[in-house]
Amino acid sequence: QPVPVVAIDGPSASGKGTVAALVAEALGFAHLDSGALYRIVALSAMRKGVALEDEPAVAALAAGLPARFEGGRVLLDGDDVTDEIRSETCSVGASRVAVLPQVRDALFWRQRAYRSGAGVVAEGRDMGSVVFPDAELKIFLTASVEARAERRYKQLIGKGMAASMIDLLKDLHERDARDSQRAVAPLKQCEDAALLDTSELTVQQAVDFVVERAAGLR
Ligand code: C5P
Repeated sequence: QPVPVVAIDGPSASGKGTVAALVAEALGFAHLDSGALYRIVALSAMRKGVALEDEPAVAALAAGLPARFEGGRVLLDGDDVTDEIRSETCSVGASRVAVLPQVRDALFWRQRAYRSGAGVVAEGRDMGSVVFPDAELKIFLTASVEARAERRYKQLIGKGMAASMIDLLKDLHERDARDSQRAVAPLKQCEDAALLDTSELTVQQAVDFVVERAAGLR
């Protein structure tokens, strides 16, 4: 009996992270936030002064990434970077290193290793298409760009960080374009993925949608 995987893919700020964490909790599964891995790689490169375009150097960092997830915190080299990786600088940096095939390869096995225990809820851009093409359940979770910009705005303000709707909209459009037009593992809805548009849904409604479909997997 294979370890069940719920793959949730979708664009930036669609609410995947929140929904995936709650679905994982409801099912008693582990939660793989693959975007966090790309964010940590970008942060690590920036801290080490490695250019984000330097594919072999960034891939080497990704392969030996001294990162850990502990009790909801993200540690890089023992340093708590949970909030820092959510900054716009790291968001943009992540989508830049994510276009590099060698970086994606380096993170592939690390992501596959999450398939253990009771099950895993894996969220990202290519969970259903590349990392877990054999996932038992695939969800394409999206929302309008306006709804997403507004959510990110509230998130940043709530954390006491600076935010501008105009900048966030521009940034989301750019990141959507970069994520869906790149040559390797572009963001797209798999044929076998269920579409979940959360523009008009509460978090709980989105969670229920996924948990209902995952009912047979526990
Ligand atoms: O999901 P999140 O917004 O945290 O991801 C940050 C960036 O990492 C995305 O914009 C995307 O470019 C990249 N990413 C990816 N593949 C994944 C997860 C994230 O390319 N599976």
